[in-house]
Amino acid sequence: MTDVMSSAAELLGSRCRVLVTGGAGFIGGAVVRRLLNESEAIVFNLDKMGYASDLTSINQVLVSLGPEAADRHQLLKVDLCDAEAVAQSVKRADPDLVMHLAAESHVDRSISGPGVFIDSNVTGTYNLLQAVRLHYEGLPESRRGPFRLHHISTDEVFGSLGAHGRFEETTPYDPRSPYSASKAASDHLVNAWHHTFGLPVVLTNCSNNYGPWQFPEKLIPVVTLKAAAGEDIPLYGDGLNVRDWLYVEDHVDALLLAACKGESGRSYCVGGHGERTNREVVETICLQLDELKRSAAPHRDLIRRVTDRPGHDRRYAINPARISSELGWKPRHDVSTGFRETVRWYLDHQDWCSRVREQAHYDGGRLGTVT
Ligand code: NAD
Ligand code: DAU
Repeated sequence: MTDVMSSAAELLGSRCRVLVTGGAGFIGGAVVRRLLNESEAIVFNLDKMGYASDLTSINQVLVSLGPEAADRHQLLKVDLCDAEAVAQSVKRADPDLVMHLAAESHVDRSISGPGVFIDSNVTGTYNLLQAVRLHYEGLPESRRGPFRLHHISTDEVFGSLGAHGRFEETTPYDPRSPYSASKAASDHLVNAWHHTFGLPVVLTNCSNNYGPWQFPEKLIPVVTLKAAAGEDIPLYGDGLNVRDWLYVEDHVDALLLAACKGESGRSYCVGGHGERTNREVVETICLQLDELKRSAAPHRDLIRRVTDRPGHDRRYAINPARISSELGWKPRHDVSTGFRETVRWYLDHQDWCSRVREQAHYDGGRLGTVT
């Protein structure tokens, strides 16, 4: 850790039982690894073990920590849509902190099949809120004060920006994809449980994450793997849509700060000043691959413009002033070095990528077109 960031143990303080939902996914996995590595907390990992789930990285950490750490990670293989199983899991975990990351997360899949997004992200969040509310009401006074339910959300709830401006906590909600609408609904439910039932909650709305262990269906792993294999690289529309890229470990820094130090009822926007057009991102990755992996022609020759994503949001950008000034967060990675490390990681982990794609019955093809 740098001197600006406290360790997970320091941030957790007296909280020693943490329930993480979605901890077998990309960002949840990074949260679980951090908690295991940097604290003594027992981590209950509630995940349905869907197509994007994988425990390889967590198992590696457990091996490195030795046998005495084995019991500190407890997988609860539960679908949030099963209210009874969720209630039992919360009872078993008896948490001091809940970090809710479980969600269907891929916009393209929400276009092809929106139903599971409503089930997991809306009904699933409702089931969790009901179970956690019961748990909170039964806690002794000494555990109530530090208790939080931290809901991890996205900048996509704010809609699409024009050429100027950035999202901040007061930006009105304007979701435009089935994914972002389902996340917006879950944000509203969390706020309602705070105002109506007094549940202590914190929300964060973050921009696009990148880094190792992301299921290879999103832009950065897709481009890296396709280019490395000499396949066409699909660039949606004119390639000028803008995303604000943040290294996943910087997001974990922000999540732990918000969960442990955030004010109840407050939301925090998280983003890394990493605005790039998709074309810039794709060309950067191609240039990095030219250096890392020899090919007859420059990798950028593989870029192909393909039909746009329906309802494709034009630009996202975050103003992280609140989390920076109130909680002292700032990103520790810049986009160019972060992308380079990530591209190298995917090149070195192509076996893992093939395995998880195969397990998920996903061939790497285009998702999310409307027929
Ligand atoms: P992911 O798809 O990699 O992982 C999500 C995990 O949630 C998976 O393991 C999945 O099995 C689990 N899950 C989904 N539905 C479930 C259900 N009904 N019951 C139990 N488990 C379920 O997603 P991610 O990229 O790690 O995103 C995690 C969270 O962060 C999501 O809530 C997402 O909306 C939010 N977020 C993601 C990004 C990003 O760039 N990836 C940015 C901002 C916010
Ligand atoms: O902004 C935060 C969101 O970022 C999270 O809430 C989502 O969970 C996460 O998936 C991500 O959503 P995006 O839709 O922005 O990410 P994706 O990687 O799918 O796409 C990034 C951009 O790249 C987007 O403008 C679409 C474009 N794209 C994507 C793919 C997969 C392409 O041009 N080609 C592709 O093959």
